[in-house]
Order: sequence, then structure tokens, then C-alpha cells
Amino acid sequence: MRNLSVKKAVIPAAGLGTRFLPATKAIPKEMLPIVDTPTLQYIVKEAVDSGIEQILIITNQNKHCMENHFDTDFELEARLRASGKDAEADMINEIADMANIFYIRQKEPKGLGHAILCAQPFIGNEPFAVLLGDDIMVNRGGKPALRQLMEAYDDRKSTVVGVQQVDPAQTNKYGIVSPSASAPRKGRLVKLSGMVEKPEPADAPSNLAAYGRYVLAPAIFDYLESQTAGKGGEIQLTDAICRLMEREAVYAYDMEGERYDAGDKFGFIRATIDFALERDEIRPKLAEYIKKLAETL
Ligand code: UTP
Repeated sequence: MRNLSVKKAVIPAAGLGTRFLPATKAIPKEMLPIVDTPTLQYIVKEAVDSGIEQILIITNQNKHCMENHFDTDFELEARLRASGKDAEADMINEIADMANIFYIRQKEPKGLGHAILCAQPFIGNEPFAVLLGDDIMVNRGGKPALRQLMEAYDDRKSTVVGVQQVDPAQTNKYGIVSPSASAPRKGRLVKLSGMVEKPEPADAPSNLAAYGRYVLAPAIFDYLESQTAGKGGEIQLTDAICRLMEREAVYAYDMEGERYDAGDKFGFIRATIDFALERDEIRPKLAEYIKKLAETL
């Protein structure tokens, strides 16, 4: 794999997860399993598959389960091996070896922008990737979504926001980008003139929504530091990106792949069904069940 300039990634996973209460009272939504694998593990894997070398997870007081998940567990491994479950033992070992993972706490859930600001000491003065801890992107048979953005960053040496088209009626759920009228689109890449957080459909500048993947220039920290609360009383990354645009170019990249919002109940169930149907050991039974169920709906 070609070496790219982005080496570090930040995964914010310190939100309250109110859409998933009561489960998220004690378990971060990023640790809820899709089939048998926590959402966060799919996201770490996308970062690793994209060529990221170091990952910082932004956590809150529930962080221990994340640390434990990506750590070695000698006792469990020994028990599994003693009972002849070598495949399972290998599997838990592989998780611990996946990546170099670091953790930092966001003391208060003040918003995504604030969560990313907590990463400044870890990132320093280099471009970095952001993958939201509850957004799974799958590009079956193609390049991981983050890799696409990392390549676009190297092409332009500028911040790149990963986007996809959404139903125009749904713009009030996302950060919506405003493509520049003067700059021509180059393939999937388009220069931006603005970005707005969760606009009502009538006010939305487009239907291109930020879908949980970014490559940010380090200058973003200058704006996050002074960013005041925006939509929902939270410090918004969108607002800081908008201000960054006044100083340097920012692009949107229309990512190839399918997005699952695992922080939303329907998105979570859809991911569970799709991922289960991809498993040889589950597919036959599940497909039969879905077909029977469909007859009753
Ligand atoms: P969301 O807005 O989806 O997370 O943030 P949330 O606030 O937990 O969601 P609900 O609406 O209450 O259910 C996207 C990502 O940013 C992280 C979240 O953990 C999620 O992975 N985040 C959000 C933080 O790390 N800190 C924050 O203050 C807010």
C-alpha cells in the first residue's frame, strides 16, 4: 500500500448516546455489537486497512470496556486454549494486535468539535483522520472510505470532508456542505464555500451530508480552540471547518461505500441484518426467517 501523509486517526466515542438509552447508560454505543463485533472494532479496522498507524479514541468515564476490548487478555486466552478453543483464542489475540491505540478522556460531552480538540496534544502539527465512533462505512470490494479521503488529502494538501447524498428531507440530521459555485468538480472531489450543521431542508445549501469521515489539516485546532457553542448548544466541528475555509481550501469527497449509522436504532438493526447475511454460518437460517417474516408484513 502506497505511503500517505496521514498517519494518525481520532475516533470520538465520548457522546451520551441518548438515542440508544437505556443500553448506553452503562455501555458506550460504540461497544454495542453488530452480530458479534462491537461497532468500534469495525471502525478501528477501517482505519488500519486505510494505512493509519496510531489511533486515539476519545472516551468518557465508560472507557474501561474499550481499553479492555483492544488489550490482551492472558487469562481468557489461556482458558480458551486449555479447552481446545484455539480459533477463539487466536481471534481475541488478533484484536489486541490490530493497532496502536491510545485513549484520552473528554471530561464533558460538549460536542464533536470539543471532542476533537481533546486530541490536539496527540496529533501535534500534522494532518489527521477522524472517524466517528458510531458510523460504519463499508465499501465491499473497494478501497475503505477513509483511504479514499486520505488519498484526496494528499492530492490537495487540504482538509477533506467525506460526504454522500442524502434524502433532501433529511438534511436536518447532518452537517451539510455547500459546494463552491466557481470551482469545477474533479471526479468525486469538490471545493467547498460553506458548511452548515443540521439545516432544515428549506435552508440546506445541498443534499451532500458529512458522513462521519474527515481528514483535517492541523490548522483546525486554531478554530476549535475559540469555537463557541453552536447548534444544540454543542461545540460543532462543522462551525470550525466553516471558519477554516476562510483561511485555506476545504474539499468534500463523495465517498464510495455504504454507510450505517450504528448510533441510530434503525441503522443499527439494518447493519445487524446486512452483516449477518454476509456470514456463511448465519445466512441460510436468517434468509429463511426474513422470507417467512416478509409474508406476514
Ligand atoms: P453523535 O451526535 O452521534 O453522538 O456524535 P451522541 O451525542 O452520543 O448521540 P445522541 O444523539 O446522544 O444519541 C457522533 C460521534 O461523536 C462522539 C460520539 O460518541 C459519536 O461517536 N461525540 C459526540 C463525542 O465524542 N463527544 C461529544 O461531546 C459528542
